[in-house]
Amino acid sequence: MILLDGKKTSEAIQSEIAAEVVKIKEQGGKAPHLAAILVGHDGGSMTYVNNKVLACERVGFDSTLLHYETDITEEELLNKIREINEDANIDGLIVQLPLPKHINPNMVLEVMDYKKDVDGFHPVNVGRMVAGLPAYLPATPYGIMQLLERYNIDTFGKHCVVVGRSNIVGTPISILMSKCTNPGEATVTICHRNTVNLAHHTRQADILIVAVGKPGLITEDMVKEGAVVIDVGTTRVPDATRERGWRLRGDVDFEKVAPKCSYITPVPGGVGPLTIAMLLKNTLRAAKKEVHS
Ligand code: GUN
Repeated sequence: MILLDGKKTSEAIQSEIAAEVVKIKEQGGKAPHLAAILVGHDGGSMTYVNNKVLACERVGFDSTLLHYETDITEEELLNKIREINEDANIDGLIVQLPLPKHINPNMVLEVMDYKKDVDGFHPVNVGRMVAGLPAYLPATPYGIMQLLERYNIDTFGKHCVVVGRSNIVGTPISILMSKCTNPGEATVTICHRNTVNLAHHTRQADILIVAVGKPGLITEDMVKEGAVVIDVGTTRVPDATRERGWRLRGDVDFEKVAPKCSYITPVPGGVGPLTIAMLLKNTLRAAKKEVHS
C-alpha cells in the first residue's frame, strides 16, 4: 500500500509555480493577482480564504481580500464583482462559498467574468471542460488528476467509481476520468444518495473516488483488493484529545480499508492540501492567458 502524499505533492507544485513567478518578474512581467471575496464570519470559510491569501504570498502572487458583512445586498456584491471584472490588474477571482441565503450563488457565477473564474465554477468553464476545450478545472478534481499523474497511476480502461455528484467534485471528476486524456480513459460509474446497493458498485472499482461528506461511509467490505482509493471527505468530528476539540475524518474507514489498497489518500494530508496548489495554478494560467485569450 502506497500513501498518496497530498502535502508533498502540493509543495512540489507550489515550488514550480514560485519558480515561474520569479521568471515572469525577471522578464519584466507583473505578478499574477488573485482577488478573494468573503462574505460573513463563518470560521471554516475564513480559515480557507486566509490560507489562500497566505499561499499567494508564498509563491509571489499579489492578492486582494475583500471581506464583507453578512448583510451586504446581492446587488452590492454583484457590483463589486463587476468592478473586479473591469480591473485589468486582477487576473483571478474567487467568491468563497457558501454565501448567505439572500445571495443567489448562481447569480454571482453568472456575473463573474469567466476569464477570471479560477475556481472553474462558471457555466462557460464547466461547458468547456465537458467539451474537452481549455478551461479552468475546479481545484479538487484538478488536484486528484495531479495525484494520479504524479504517482503514475494507470487509469487506462480501468473502472472508476465516483461516489457523490456535486458540482464541485463528483460531477467534474467523473467527466475528467472518462476523457481521452492521461489520466483518463476510464470507464466511469457515478453513485449518489439514491444508488441501490452502493457496495455492489464500489466493489467493482479499480479506482474509487469518494466525495460525500459522510465520515466512514466506505467500509472494508466495500473495496476491492488492490484498488486505488481517493477520499475527498473532510468532516470535522468531535475529538476531546485535541486542544481544538475536533479532528478531520474522511469518507473512508482508513484504518480498515488502507491495507487492501494499492494506493490511498490519507485524511488529512491527501486531496485537501492540493486544492490550494491548484487554485494557484489556475491563477497563474489566468495571468498567462493560457486558457482564454
Ligand atoms: N467552498 C468550498 N470549496 C470551495 C472552493 O473550491 N471554492 C470556493 N470559492 N468556495 C468553496
